[in-house]
Amino acid sequence: MFHLIDIKDLSVEEIKGLLDTAEDIIANPDKYAEVCKRKKLATLFFEPSTRTRLSFEAAMLELGGSVLGFSEASSSSATKGETVGDTVQVVGCYADIIAMRHPKEGAPMAAALKSPVPIINAGDGGHNHPTQTLTDLLTIRREKGRLDNLTIGLCGDLKFGRTVHSLIMAMSRYENVKFILISPEELKIPDYIRRGVLDKNGIEYVEIDRMEPVMDQLDVLYMTRVQRERFFNEADYQRLKDVYILTRQMLNRAKDDTIVMHPLPRVNEIPVDVDDDPRAKYFTQALNGKYVRMALIMKMLGVKA
Ligand code: NCD
Repeated sequence: MFHLIDIKDLSVEEIKGLLDTAEDIIANPDKYAEVCKRKKLATLFFEPSTRTRLSFEAAMLELGGSVLGFSEASSSSATKGETVGDTVQVVGCYADIIAMRHPKEGAPMAAALKSPVPIINAGDGGHNHPTQTLTDLLTIRREKGRLDNLTIGLCGDLKFGRTVHSLIMAMSRYENVKFILISPEELKIPDYIRRGVLDKNGIEYVEIDRMEPVMDQLDVLYMTRVQRERFFNEADYQRLKDVYILTRQMLNRAKDDTIVMHPLPRVNEIPVDVDDDPRAKYFTQALNGKYVRMALIMKMLGVKA
């Protein structure tokens, strides 16, 4: 059975197929309105979410299917000590596919070992977030017209930011992609990404702690929130939370065709007056998330338009 735990579970060709389907859904939504009739998606969210859970649910509803689930661990049997393996064996009796978010790294993988239905990792701790990456790839391809020959700046919490880890893994498979990794010393990318993905594949990258010097080099600027919930102490969070703020003045240093992305939620890292800049694409990105999740659900359920 195919589970999506890590973005590498999908080949480059499969990703292209999903993005092509998402584009077709955008162009011809009526064609897809009933393809998942009588199918059910369960969203098991042991950690807070707005976009990911609601875009999964909207995706299934727009495919003609139904949704069930829970949006906080406290309302599930996890509070009674149930394991994720047991939870999915039960939910698999009621639903055809499961999207799971969990604060523990590896929980969706553990669930997949026991699940009778396909599992989608909707974010596991500070580890991975493959469906956000599909959202990001669709956004980059639609806005820039390509996924190769790009200089991508990733800025903020590169240590705990799971969307960053999955995006680097995915983008490393395209030709001539260069990364500029902007973070304070304490929030640099983990070694398994630096060594295991970038160095191993001979990908060009630089690590820097300031935005100004690199702003004019970027095709994509991917801002992230400092992940408060993954910090060990509040003092460190307070010290690091506002290190990077993309003001209008800062954005003026960027090229006219640079796109600004953010998985959202944002805190202070992008002031709201940047939203009107035509280069700001984070709300478009959130919309794209629904279409690409529609394509993914169809693929994983084996349904066609
Ligand atoms: C991200 C996440 O949950 O990792 N949000 C999302 O899914 N769009 C980013 C974040 O929480 O900062």
